[in-house]
Amino acid sequence: MDTLNKTRVEAASAEAISAAADLLRRGEVVAFPTETVYGLGANATDEMAVGKIFAAKGRPSNNPLIVHVADIEQAKRLVKYWPEDAETLARALWPGPVTFVLPKAECVPAITTAGGETVGIRMPAHPVALQLIEACGFPLAAPSANRSNYISPTMAQHVLRSLGGRIPMVLDGGPCEGGIESTVLDLSGDECRILRPGLFSANFLSALLGKKVADAGNRRDNDIPLLSPGQLLTHYSPTTPLLLGHIDRILTEWETISGPDLPKKIALMIFEDTIVPEKMSSSAVIERMPRNNEHYAQKLFATLHHLDSQNLKAIFCEAPPADAEWSGINDRLSRAGKLL
Ligand code: TXA
Ligand code: MG
Repeated sequence: MDTLNKTRVEAASAEAISAAADLLRRGEVVAFPTETVYGLGANATDEMAVGKIFAAKGRPSNNPLIVHVADIEQAKRLVKYWPEDAETLARALWPGPVTFVLPKAECVPAITTAGGETVGIRMPAHPVALQLIEACGFPLAAPSANRSNYISPTMAQHVLRSLGGRIPMVLDGGPCEGGIESTVLDLSGDECRILRPGLFSANFLSALLGKKVADAGNRRDNDIPLLSPGQLLTHYSPTTPLLLGHIDRILTEWETISGPDLPKKIALMIFEDTIVPEKMSSSAVIERMPRNNEHYAQKLFATLHHLDSQNLKAIFCEAPPADAEWSGINDRLSRAGKLL
């Protein structure tokens, strides 16, 4: 019990990885870095251990977990069958930020898949994650290491802020490179379907497979312009209201909120080359965001965490283009906030 009251944060040395593997073998949970975001891991085949993930996050039991593996053979043992499409994509993209949803094998307990017949699997492209899974010898179920509905963590401190005192250990591997979570691809039916957009777009995956991959765009809860956040199935929100729109729309809204003497209580997340109107530039906390989508993704969650810790009244965010390569980012932003 004692270990649960205090959370150890340790730089991911070989000793720390071995200590983390010991905890995991004893049925504990440990947060670890991946190339996308930090995950909260437990033995995917141990019901009690997986139960601790749901408890620590306050995650609803109907939301399935992604199982992380260290190689393709380990993935094959978790599924009823391994289709050719999975083989093609795994050979091209693993280790990397894409998760396959496939019919689960008996060894995967119901709690891991939220009672469903399919399991999400991926091989993360991070040496610490891979070494940890190898040291354990079993696959790790790992959702993002944050309290349910909060922004995903891209640094060990983010994990600590969200789950400190609720988990025994965080392996600190520095900031995550990818920034947004993996693309979730359903390979269990006749049609390949993206369930959650990420950095790999439907077009890119279609080209690799030589067949159509359906986009997540038709999902109601991914639509931009946005439905009200209450209608979203899930949202990953900062505590500070996030308002998303084009710069002219932001300016209009800004004028209704901000008085002439408003202290620096409003943030502006804006592209690096957008010209900020004078009245905003003198009173806002300004965060410049990259025009390149991959760089933007890398910076997105860290920026939201940083702004959210400053007691601001609102975060205004310049909406990215509606292009396919921005769909993962637009998905996360639309879940985090509200369209102006
Ligand atoms: O990049 C990532 O995917 C990170 C790192 C830690 O690997 N993980 C992550 O996990 O984002 P989580 O639990 O925060 O999000 C997993 C998403 C959820 O939207 C969940 O509903 C979906 O994947 N998912 C998992 N298993 C599924 C399944 N069998 N069928 C459909 N969706 C599934
Ligand atoms: Mg998550």
